Amino acid sequence: MEPVVIPAILAKSREELLQRISQVNGLVKEIQLDIMDGEFVPNKTVGLEDLVSVPALQNSKYEFHWMVKEPEKWIEKVPGPHLHLVHIETIRSFVAIENAVKKSGGRLGLAINPDTPLERLIPFVPKAQRILIMTVRPGFSGQKYIVEMEKKIRALRDKFPRMDIEVDGGVNLETVRGAYAAGANILAAASAIFSSDDTKAAIERLRQSALGGNPA
Ligand code: DX5
Repeated sequence: MEPVVIPAILAKSREELLQRISQVNGLVKEIQLDIMDGEFVPNKTVGLEDLVSVPALQNSKYEFHWMVKEPEKWIEKVPGPHLHLVHIETIRSFVAIENAVKKSGGRLGLAINPDTPLERLIPFVPKAQRILIMTVRPGFSGQKYIVEMEKKIRALRDKFPRMDIEVDGGVNLETVRGAYAAGANILAAASAIFSSDDTKAAIERLRQSALGGNPA
Protein backbone atom coordinates (compact mmCIF):
# COMPACT_ATOMS: atom_id res chain seq x y z
CA MET A 1 0.00 0.00 0.00
CA GLU A 2 1.20 3.50 -0.76
CA PRO A 3 2.17 5.63 2.26
CA VAL A 4 -0.15 8.55 2.99
CA VAL A 5 0.99 11.34 5.30
CA ILE A 6 -1.67 13.14 7.34
CA PRO A 7 -0.96 16.36 9.25
CA ALA A 8 -2.30 16.25 12.81
CA ILE A 9 -3.61 19.48 14.30
CA LEU A 10 -3.81 19.92 18.06
CA ALA A 11 -5.23 23.40 18.50
CA LYS A 12 -5.96 25.29 21.70
CA SER A 13 -7.99 28.04 20.06
CA ARG A 14 -10.23 28.63 17.06
CA GLU A 15 -7.58 30.98 15.60
CA GLU A 16 -4.87 28.34 15.87
CA LEU A 17 -7.16 25.74 14.35
CA LEU A 18 -7.95 27.94 11.34
CA GLN A 19 -4.33 28.95 10.90
CA ARG A 20 -3.09 25.33 10.85
CA ILE A 21 -5.88 24.19 8.56
CA SER A 22 -4.98 26.91 6.07
CA GLN A 23 -1.30 25.92 6.34
CA VAL A 24 -1.97 22.40 5.04
CA ASN A 25 -5.14 22.92 3.05
CA GLY A 26 -4.65 21.82 -0.55
CA LEU A 27 -1.43 19.94 0.24
CA VAL A 28 -3.10 16.77 1.49
CA LYS A 29 -6.33 14.87 1.01
CA GLU A 30 -7.02 14.48 4.70
CA ILE A 31 -6.27 16.43 7.87
CA GLN A 32 -6.45 15.00 11.37
CA LEU A 33 -8.03 17.13 14.07
CA ASP A 34 -7.02 16.12 17.58
CA ILE A 35 -9.79 16.75 20.05
CA MET A 36 -9.12 16.39 23.78
CA ASP A 37 -11.53 17.00 26.64
CA GLY A 38 -9.13 17.08 29.59
CA GLU A 39 -10.77 13.91 30.94
CA PHE A 40 -9.74 11.01 28.72
CA VAL A 41 -6.32 12.65 28.37
CA PRO A 42 -4.62 15.26 30.57
CA ASN A 43 -4.89 18.03 27.97
CA LYS A 44 -7.64 20.11 26.43
CA THR A 45 -8.02 21.42 22.90
CA VAL A 46 -10.69 23.42 21.10
CA GLY A 47 -14.16 22.26 22.03
CA LEU A 48 -17.37 21.74 20.12
CA GLU A 49 -18.36 25.39 20.06
CA ASP A 50 -15.15 26.21 18.15
CA LEU A 51 -15.36 23.19 15.89
CA VAL A 52 -18.88 23.65 14.64
CA SER A 53 -18.19 27.25 13.70
CA VAL A 54 -15.29 26.39 11.40
CA PRO A 55 -16.49 26.96 7.84
CA ALA A 56 -13.89 24.63 6.32
CA LEU A 57 -15.47 21.77 8.22
CA GLN A 58 -18.57 22.03 6.17
CA ASN A 59 -16.70 21.76 2.86
CA SER A 60 -13.92 19.25 3.41
CA LYS A 61 -13.25 15.83 4.83
CA TYR A 62 -11.50 15.58 8.14
CA GLU A 63 -10.29 12.82 10.34
CA PHE A 64 -11.33 13.47 13.93
CA HIS A 65 -9.22 11.82 16.58
CA TRP A 66 -11.58 11.82 19.56
CA MET A 67 -9.53 11.76 22.75
CA VAL A 68 -12.65 12.38 24.80
CA LYS A 69 -14.59 10.45 27.42
CA GLU A 70 -17.93 10.30 25.58
CA PRO A 71 -17.20 10.39 21.85
CA GLU A 72 -20.78 9.65 20.79
CA LYS A 73 -21.89 13.00 22.21
CA TRP A 74 -19.31 14.89 20.11
CA ILE A 75 -19.64 12.97 16.84
CA GLU A 76 -23.33 13.74 16.41
CA LYS A 77 -22.59 17.45 16.52
CA VAL A 78 -20.11 17.35 13.63
CA PRO A 79 -22.06 16.28 10.55
CA GLY A 80 -20.37 15.53 7.24
CA PRO A 81 -18.32 12.87 5.46
CA HIS A 82 -15.65 12.80 8.16
CA LEU A 83 -13.79 9.84 9.58
CA HIS A 84 -14.26 9.49 13.33
CA LEU A 85 -11.44 7.76 15.15
CA VAL A 86 -12.88 6.54 18.42
CA HIS A 87 -10.70 5.09 21.16
CA ILE A 88 -11.59 1.52 22.02
CA GLU A 89 -10.90 2.47 25.67
CA THR A 90 -13.83 4.94 25.61
CA ILE A 91 -16.49 2.68 24.12
CA ARG A 92 -19.27 1.72 26.52
CA SER A 93 -21.78 0.80 23.82
CA PHE A 94 -20.50 0.00 20.34
CA VAL A 95 -24.01 0.38 18.97
CA ALA A 96 -24.25 3.92 20.37
CA ILE A 97 -21.01 4.83 18.60
CA GLU A 98 -22.14 3.24 15.33
CA ASN A 99 -25.44 5.12 15.53
CA ALA A 100 -23.75 8.45 16.21
CA VAL A 101 -21.42 8.00 13.25
CA LYS A 102 -24.28 6.96 11.00
CA LYS A 103 -26.38 9.91 12.07
CA SER A 104 -23.49 12.29 11.35
CA GLY A 105 -23.01 10.93 7.82
CA GLY A 106 -19.42 9.98 8.60
CA ARG A 107 -17.32 6.82 8.78
CA LEU A 108 -15.98 4.93 11.78
CA GLY A 109 -12.36 4.31 12.65
CA LEU A 110 -10.97 2.85 15.86
CA ALA A 111 -7.94 3.94 17.85
CA ILE A 112 -5.97 2.02 20.47
CA ASN A 113 -3.60 3.28 23.16
CA PRO A 114 -0.12 1.81 23.71
CA ASP A 115 -1.13 0.14 26.98
CA THR A 116 -4.25 -1.55 25.60
CA PRO A 117 -3.80 -5.08 24.27
CA LEU A 118 -4.62 -5.58 20.60
CA GLU A 119 -6.95 -8.47 21.51
CA ARG A 120 -9.44 -5.97 22.89
CA LEU A 121 -9.71 -4.32 19.47
CA ILE A 122 -9.66 -7.33 17.15
CA PRO A 123 -13.38 -8.28 17.34
CA PHE A 124 -14.37 -4.76 16.21
CA VAL A 125 -11.85 -4.32 13.39
CA PRO A 126 -14.16 -5.62 10.60
CA LYS A 127 -16.66 -2.90 11.54
CA ALA A 128 -14.12 -0.09 11.12
CA GLN A 129 -12.80 1.68 8.04
CA ARG A 130 -9.44 2.46 9.62
CA ILE A 131 -7.43 1.51 12.68
CA LEU A 132 -5.17 3.95 14.48
CA ILE A 133 -2.33 2.47 16.50
CA MET A 134 -1.06 5.07 18.94
CA THR A 135 2.73 5.17 19.19
CA VAL A 136 2.67 7.56 22.16
CA ARG A 137 0.31 7.88 25.13
CA PRO A 138 -2.10 10.46 23.79
CA GLY A 139 -2.23 14.00 25.13
CA PHE A 140 0.67 15.93 23.73
CA SER A 141 2.68 16.52 20.59
CA GLY A 142 6.41 16.05 20.52
CA GLN A 143 6.63 12.79 22.50
CA LYS A 144 8.96 9.90 21.76
CA TYR A 145 7.77 7.19 19.37
CA ILE A 146 7.28 3.87 21.20
CA VAL A 147 9.04 1.48 18.86
CA GLU A 148 7.53 -1.63 20.55
CA MET A 149 4.18 -0.66 19.01
CA GLU A 150 5.51 -1.91 15.69
CA LYS A 151 4.75 -5.44 16.98
CA LYS A 152 1.12 -4.40 17.30
CA ILE A 153 1.12 -2.92 13.80
CA ARG A 154 2.64 -6.12 12.38
CA ALA A 155 0.16 -8.37 14.16
CA LEU A 156 -2.75 -6.30 12.89
CA ARG A 157 -1.39 -6.17 9.36
CA ASP A 158 -0.97 -9.97 9.33
CA LYS A 159 -4.62 -10.42 10.25
CA PHE A 160 -5.99 -7.65 8.03
CA PRO A 161 -3.90 -7.30 4.86
CA ARG A 162 -6.14 -4.67 3.25
CA MET A 163 -7.13 -2.56 6.26
CA ASP A 164 -6.04 1.08 6.47
CA ILE A 165 -3.66 1.13 9.42
CA GLU A 166 -2.57 4.48 10.77
CA VAL A 167 0.12 5.45 13.27
CA ASP A 168 0.21 8.61 15.34
CA GLY A 169 2.73 9.90 17.85
CA GLY A 170 6.42 10.64 17.41
CA VAL A 171 6.30 10.01 13.67
CA ASN A 172 9.30 11.78 12.13
CA LEU A 173 12.03 11.27 9.52
CA GLU A 174 13.75 8.69 11.74
CA THR A 175 10.73 6.67 12.85
CA VAL A 176 8.44 6.76 9.82
CA ARG A 177 10.29 4.02 7.94
CA GLY A 178 9.86 1.50 10.77
CA ALA A 179 6.15 2.26 11.10
CA TYR A 180 5.58 1.87 7.37
CA ALA A 181 7.71 -1.26 7.12
CA ALA A 182 5.70 -2.80 9.99
CA GLY A 183 2.51 -2.28 8.00
CA ALA A 184 1.12 1.18 8.73
CA ASN A 185 0.12 2.86 5.46
CA ILE A 186 -1.22 6.08 7.00
CA LEU A 187 1.25 8.21 8.89
CA ALA A 188 0.00 11.07 11.07
CA ALA A 189 2.44 13.70 12.28
CA ALA A 190 2.25 17.05 14.02
CA SER A 191 5.68 18.34 15.05
CA ALA A 192 7.54 16.77 12.12
CA ILE A 193 5.31 18.83 9.81
CA PHE A 194 4.47 22.01 11.69
CA SER A 195 7.95 22.66 13.07
CA SER A 196 9.20 23.03 9.50
CA ASP A 197 9.21 26.35 7.63
CA ASP A 198 8.27 24.48 4.48
CA THR A 199 5.15 22.43 5.23
CA LYS A 200 4.86 20.98 1.77
CA ALA A 201 8.48 19.78 1.73
CA ALA A 202 8.14 18.32 5.24
CA ILE A 203 5.16 16.21 4.15
CA GLU A 204 6.96 15.00 1.05
CA ARG A 205 10.13 14.19 3.01
CA LEU A 206 8.12 12.04 5.42
CA ARG A 207 6.56 10.18 2.52
CA GLN A 208 9.94 9.58 0.89
CA SER A 209 11.47 8.43 4.18
CA ALA A 210 8.63 5.95 4.68
CA LEU A 211 9.56 4.44 1.34
CA GLY A 212 13.18 4.24 2.46
CA GLY A 213 14.36 7.18 0.40
CA ASN A 214 16.89 9.75 1.47
CA PRO A 215 15.09 12.32 3.65
CA ALA A 216 17.59 15.08 2.84
C1 DX5 B 1 -1.02 12.64 20.57
C2 DX5 B 1 -1.83 13.17 19.41
C3 DX5 B 1 -1.01 13.24 18.18
C4 DX5 B 1 0.06 14.23 18.31
C5 DX5 B 1 1.13 13.92 17.35
O1 DX5 B 1 -1.58 12.97 21.73
O2 DX5 B 1 -2.87 12.32 19.18
O3 DX5 B 1 -1.76 13.45 17.02
O4 DX5 B 1 -0.42 15.52 18.13
O5 DX5 B 1 2.16 14.78 17.58
P1 DX5 B 1 3.65 14.46 17.14
O6 DX5 B 1 3.63 14.10 15.70
O7 DX5 B 1 4.36 15.72 17.44
O8 DX5 B 1 4.08 13.32 18.02
